[in-house]
Amino acid sequence: MRIGLAYNQRPSDATWSGGAGGRTSPEPSAPIDEYVEWDDPETIEAVGKALRVFGDVVYLEAIDDFPTRLRDAKVDFLFNMAEGMSGPNRESHVPAIAEFLEVPYLGSDPLSLALALHKGRAKEVFVQRGVPTAPAVLVESDADLERLNGATTYPLFLKPIWEGSSKGIAEASHVTSPAEAQERARHLLATYRQPVLAESFLPGDEFTAAVLGHGKEAATLPLIRYKFHTLPEGSLPIMGYEAKWLWDQPDTEFDILECPARISEELAAALRDAALGAYRALGCRDWARVDLRLDADGKPQVLEVNPLPGIMPDPGAHSCLPMAASALGMSYDELIQGVTRIAWRRATGSELQ
Ligand SMILES: Nc1ncnc2c1ncn2[C@@H]1O[C@H](COP(=O)(O)OP(=O)(O)OP(=O)(O)O)[C@@H](O)[C@H]1O
Ligand SMILES: [Mg+2]
Repeated sequence: MRIGLAYNQRPSDATWSGGAGGRTSPEPSAPIDEYVEWDDPETIEAVGKALRVFGDVVYLEAIDDFPTRLRDAKVDFLFNMAEGMSGPNRESHVPAIAEFLEVPYLGSDPLSLALALHKGRAKEVFVQRGVPTAPAVLVESDADLERLNGATTYPLFLKPIWEGSSKGIAEASHVTSPAEAQERARHLLATYRQPVLAESFLPGDEFTAAVLGHGKEAATLPLIRYKFHTLPEGSLPIMGYEAKWLWDQPDTEFDILECPARISEELAAALRDAALGAYRALGCRDWARVDLRLDADGKPQVLEVNPLPGIMPDPGAHSCLPMAASALGMSYDELIQGVTRIAWRRATGSELQ
């Protein structure tokens, strides 16, 4: 068995600090969080090591000559963890190339990946399918800024429409007036060069639900709650860029995740239902992580689905999916091997030895 591993690796230049660290001295033209979605070498190596149990692992960096290297590698299966290079369809490029070359691969297909990445399109599908999600206004260009006036209820929370890893998300995303909203929207439009989603601010607790499996067999792993009271005093209770990449370092005492979440069975069931509803509505496969928050009435609302979930192996990096798996007694290798078996069974109808 030959198994390919498609990935995008963070540049290792001096502008990076630490394993999960942020960029400390960006070029003036680049947003501070430009490469934050890509994986560090430790994560890529940990996945490769776990996959070796199945046979030879061929490392395939998903850069310009990826299509020919994938074609020539003659792999039986592709483990896809590539976040993609750029643009709103970046996460779909590798799976689309694999489909073109008829290589079976792990994870969601190009349509689901592109839908999940576009928070506006995903919201339309959620609404259509009855998946709870907060109301929002779309600002596609400066000409739409007036949509932030009038009937919209404040506070709002503004984010770039097709980013991840909390790119463009900071305390300034929380706005309480049309003037503030317009200023932030202008900044996001200019910095990230894409539409902005202005969503009702959800003031309640935040959770993340890891999902494993597909179709009827998809199930959630133990839920995780964010303990926002552990953030520096006076911070807004959100998982913004600072909380994810600057304050949370392997060598700091950052302890924001509660896993399993200590909540009532009733709330847990509502969160699981919403998470699985979102996963199925977008047609996700094999695994994903669904982010949710409670509204002012304590009702779960889906923020987004991440069909390429973060999988950092170091427990000190507080990666949610490995942490949720470990709450079930599953090691990192067992998680990677388990999801590979799920994907192989889905793609080929047979069991992977
Ligand atoms: N409507 C909202 N109300 C309150 N907080 C929000 C809202 N939308 C987003 N947030 C906060 O911002 C964080 C990041 O938002 P979101 O999950 O939508 O973006 P992301 O960058 O795609 O995240 P990820 O790192 O999971 O890919 C959330 O974890 C949450 O703390
Ligand atoms: Mg998120």
